[in-house]
Amino acid sequence: MRCFHLLFVVVALLATAAADAKPVLRAVTDAPAGVASDSSDELYCDGWRLSVETGNAGPWSAIPSRCAGFVRAYMEGERYASDSAVAAADSLAFAAQALASGDGGARPAWVFDVDETLLSNSPYYAVNGWGSQEFNETSFDEWVDVAKAPALPSSLKLYKELQGLGIHIILLTGRSEFQRNATEVNLFFAGYHSWEKLILRQSPDIGKTAVQYKSERRAALEAEGFKILGNSGDQWSDLLGLPMATRSFKLPNPMYFIS
Ligand SMILES: *[C@@H]1O[C@H](CO)[C@@H](O)[C@H](O)[C@H]1NC(C)=O
Ligand SMILES: *[C@@H]1O[C@H](CO)[C@@H](O)[C@H](O)[C@H]1NC(C)=O
Ligand SMILES: [Mg+2]
Repeated sequence: MRCFHLLFVVVALLATAAADAKPVLRAVTDAPAGVASDSSDELYCDGWRLSVETGNAGPWSAIPSRCAGFVRAYMEGERYASDSAVAAADSLAFAAQALASGDGGARPAWVFDVDETLLSNSPYYAVNGWGSQEFNETSFDEWVDVAKAPALPSSLKLYKELQGLGIHIILLTGRSEFQRNATEVNLFFAGYHSWEKLILRQSPDIGKTAVQYKSERRAALEAEGFKILGNSGDQWSDLLGLPMATRSFKLPNPMYFIS
C-alpha cells in the first residue's frame, strides 16, 4: 500500500509539474474531500468520535487536542448518558427476546466490563484532561484504590433488569487481581450486588491483549456451561475474539482506547 501511495504521489507530482506548479503533496496528505479544513471543531470531532466508536480509527493513544472541549462536553452533557441509555435499552430488549425464544439454555449469562461500563471514571478523567493526556497508570491505580467511581446509571438499571430476568451476571475486567478488594468495594458503593463472578487479570494474563485475555475467559465460562447471551463493554477489545457473546453491545467511550 505504502509503495502504491508513493508511486501515486510521484506520478501526480510529475503530471502536475508539467501542467502548473500546484502543491500536489498537500492535496494528497490533506483531509479527504468533504472534510473542509475550515469545518468547525464540533463537526470534525463528531466525525472523529464516530470513527472511534466504529473502530475505524484503529489504535490511538490520546484524543486530538482540538477535541478536548468536545469530549468534555459529550461526557458532562446529556449525550453520554443518552447514548448509554439507548445501548442499555437495546441490550434489555435483546435479552428479553432471547430468553422468550429459549436461547438462554440452562445457564444464561451476561458479561459486563467494569471501567466505563458499570463504573464511570469521569471524576478521574475530569481532572486528567478527558483523555488528552497520556494514560498514567500510577495515578489511575490511586483513583481505583479510592473506590468511589459512580455507576453509569443506565448500566446499573440494565444490570438489575437482567438479574430480574434470571440471567447470571459475570464481571470481566482488565483490572488486576491485586485490585479485587478496591473493585468490590467500589461496585458495592455504586449499587452493584450479587454478581456470579468477578474475573480479574491473574499474573499469567499480564501482557496479554484484552482481546486474548477476555476471549480465553469467555471460553472458560462456556466450558463451565454458561451460555453468554450478551456482552457489554466500552472497548471493542471487550467484545471481539472467539467465543463471542450471541450479541455484543458497545458502550460509548471517546476518552481512551484499549487493544
Ligand atoms: C503519574 O501520576 C503520579 C501519581 O499521581 C505522578 O506522581 C506522576 O508525576 C505522574 N506522571 C506523569 C508522567 O504525569
Ligand atoms: C478494601 O478496600 C477498601 C477501599 O479501598 C479499604 O478501605 C479496605 O481497608 C480494604 N480492605 C482490605 C481487607 O484490604
Ligand atoms: Mg472498560
